[in-house]
Amino acid sequence: MRLLAVVVLLASALAVCAEPMSGYAFLDASTRAMQDDEFENPGMVAVDRGAALFHEHREAEEYSCSSCHGQDGEGLDTAEIARYPVYDANLGGLVTLQRRVNYCWEIHMDRFPLTPGSSELIALETFVRNRAHGEQVNVQTDGDMAALLARGETLYNTRFGQLDIACQHCHVQHQGQMLRGQKLSQGQSNGFPEYRLGRGRITSFQQRLAECFVSFRAEPFEAGSEEADLLELFVSSRGNGLPIETPAVRF
Ligand code: HEC
Ligand code: HEC
Repeated sequence: MRLLAVVVLLASALAVCAEPMSGYAFLDASTRAMQDDEFENPGMVAVDRGAALFHEHREAEEYSCSSCHGQDGEGLDTAEIARYPVYDANLGGLVTLQRRVNYCWEIHMDRFPLTPGSSELIALETFVRNRAHGEQVNVQTDGDMAALLARGETLYNTRFGQLDIACQHCHVQHQGQMLRGQKLSQGQSNGFPEYRLGRGRITSFQQRLAECFVSFRAEPFEAGSEEADLLELFVSSRGNGLPIETPAVRF
């Protein structure tokens, strides 16, 4: 009986740790209030810039994004946006939201593709993901995705760099603890692209990832690389069920 009680207790403690929690839960009250107020939230500037690009109808071109997706993106499928990154065999496998936008930009609009992580691409991504604000993250974890997720998880648990440390050391084992004046969160992706008060700019998931790598003195994976995409996939799937907060406000 006793042993059983201990096992049940342990199992419930683990379940609490495994419960996904947004970085929002780790913020102080004033940063939360800033995020929640559309007029105060500095990330809304990127949403507006993305909206302008979304409407932009270039001379001699057939389409703007809004020609196909509605003036304010009301034709976009917000439940579908919450599923990104997705598996799409026609587009070569794993497709992040940035890659989807770039695909439309290049294939549907016949434009020269944007560089992964470019400010236009991040602004468009911010606008598009903000359309799905409040939708629950719903990344596919079975079927074709299973093997890719396993690779992402391996990267998440791999030690890198001079400090020989893995994502999970900070964001699983030490979540809730302080590190250099910051409270470690679970490192969730539901707020991206997000506005970073310390940097004074909008930041994509993969840019944030690179900052974490630099912080533990490891060589970051390039934006748009296979490894960065796999980490984005795994981290996003950890956040299944969390509401999309784009643009979140973080330190
Ligand atoms: C010529 C029409 C066309 C244009 C122009 C276009 N798209 Fe798309 N877009 C599509 C189609 C078709 C899909 C796939 C829908 C599906 O799979 O059901 C799609 C899918 C998407 C999705 C995935 C979510 C969803 O609703 O399926 C996003 C995000 C998106 N487009 C953003 C953009 C952005 C940003 C631009 C401008 C840079 C753009 N699109 C320009 C046709 C277009
Ligand atoms: C040395 C500790 C450390 C390691 C290792 C680390 N990070 Fe972080 N990470 C931080 C700190 C500090 C922050 C800012 C506070 C927070 O949200 O945890 C952060 C923030 C994040 C965020 C933003 C969370 C949000 O809500 O805005 C993501 C995503 C993230 N990390 C992913 C990763 C991934 C993926 C790895 C592995 C490649 C990693 N981190 C490795 C320290 C670390």
